[in-house]
Amino acid sequence: MREEIRLVDLVIEIIDARLPQGSRNPDLDDLAASKFRLMVFNKLDLSDENVCSRWMDYYREKGSACIGLDARNNSEVKRIKSICADICRERIERDRSRGIKNRPVRAMVAGIPNVGKSTFINSLAGKAGAKTGNKPGVTKGSQWIKVDKQFELLDTPGVLWPKFEDQLVARNLAVIGSINDDILSMEELGAYLIDHLNKFYPGVLEARYGGSDIEAVASKIGAVKKGSETDYLRAYNALIDDFRSAKLGRICLEVFKDE
Ligand code: G4P
Repeated sequence: MREEIRLVDLVIEIIDARLPQGSRNPDLDDLAASKFRLMVFNKLDLSDENVCSRWMDYYREKGSACIGLDARNNSEVKRIKSICADICRERIERDRSRGIKNRPVRAMVAGIPNVGKSTFINSLAGKAGAKTGNKPGVTKGSQWIKVDKQFELLDTPGVLWPKFEDQLVARNLAVIGSINDDILSMEELGAYLIDHLNKFYPGVLEARYGGSDIEAVASKIGAVKKGSETDYLRAYNALIDDFRSAKLGRICLEVFKDE
């Protein structure tokens, strides 16, 4: 990535809006320090807009442009081109004054697996420029994608770092589905999600399940094994599924804390 960043004018960082900090690549600030930056809060349709707007203000103060998006919506994504041109206007003017015309704006698209990078590129490039898939990590190797004469994208592999120093980040990534479910226990993830919801989104669990604990989830969906024993695993899976599909409402897993 360090090598490839030299080839571009700006870096478009796709993050999952449900995890405005934990779904970032922590090395990118350092790697792309000299570049224009655009942070795309993707999957904003699933996250809490008020919380995200505070995170956006925070990142804007640090020098990055920010936009919220649903990458599946082509017309929303098409705005990205003019936003990038605005961000790079200075460079475009400079080129023009030196007689360099029509050099395209080149943007690297970076993001960890499952944040919606392929969907974003497909919506923007308007053709099957990158393959989308339902499992994390489908993109292999980097490739250039020509959007049009004025705009080119460098698609980079969605990499996750091998070790998580912060267990909370790992847990959050598992809840949104960026780490395979089989790495962490669903019970642990579900219990954590219940705590988060009761603390920051009180009333959400009651509204859907008629109670605020896993027993309520289990009884609502009829999760019982033979012998009338509660099937907790099924209940936790249902809870996580409901969260991922926003059936619990639009939720952000990282509340913004003022420094
Ligand atoms: P990646 O390249 O970053 O790994 O992610 P990818 O585009 O494959 O997207 C991962 C999943 O997230 C896909 O769903 C995709 O449709 C969904 N997605 C992408 N952007 C958004 C968004 O802004 N909002 C919402 N709600 N979902 C989004 P999937 O179920 O895994 O695949 P599919 O059945 O949709 O093809």
